[in-house]
Amino acid sequence: MAMQNISLRKATIKDKALVIDFDYSLNKVEHIELKREEKITKAILDKKCFIILENNKAVGFVIFDYRFFDQGWIELIIIAEKYRGKGIGGQTFDLICKQSQADKVFTSTNSSNIQMQKALSKVGFSFAGKINGLDDGDPELFYYKMTDNRKAKNKSPHTTLYKKP
Ligand SMILES: CC(C)(COP(=O)(O)OP(=O)(O)OC[C@H]1O[C@@H](n2cnc3c(N)ncnc32)[C@H](O)[C@@H]1OP(=O)(O)O)[C@@H](O)C(=O)NCCC(=O)NCCS
Repeated sequence: MAMQNISLRKATIKDKALVIDFDYSLNKVEHIELKREEKITKAILDKKCFIILENNKAVGFVIFDYRFFDQGWIELIIIAEKYRGKGIGGQTFDLICKQSQADKVFTSTNSSNIQMQKALSKVGFSFAGKINGLDDGDPELFYYKMTDNRKAKNKSPHTTLYKKP
């Protein structure tokens, strides 16, 4: 498990087919019904989509932004089936926390998704709460981790605004 070299690179529109394929392979029905192609394309254009590389080979993708109360927010992560359960998810979360410009990174997953919950707990994410009513009978569990990253505070417009000359 320790020999992998995991890195992230920002997806470009040239990666669209690859990312769509990861998503389609996970759940064809959701891919179509939830208009995921549109969402993924927008995420790529907005520079919020990152390709997960294992030794420079694309093994999945992650969509990350700051739409959740200005904190880091992992919207979606998908790793190709044969690469799951090897610690790549955990390492991706570590990389996201390192590059986050906010103090905390949040994400959520269905109660039924034990693999995602384990991957998050293993790298130090804490349970933040449960939301009922999104998916019938499968509550959404929220998780977060402190990033030790105070860049956001230093960059905050308030700091600039109120900084004494
Ligand atoms: C969820 C996901 C991103 C996690 O990444 P990963 O690389 O598989 O995660 P890790 O290897 O870091 O950790 C997974 C943990 O779950 C365990 N696990 C593996 N398969 C499992 C299974 N079928 N059920 C329960 N746990 C499982 C692993 O053993 C590991 O824990 P351990 O090291 O304590 O044994 C990845 O599995 C994935 O892409 N799944 C499909 C898409 C998905 O569900 N995305 C999340 C949407 S919110």
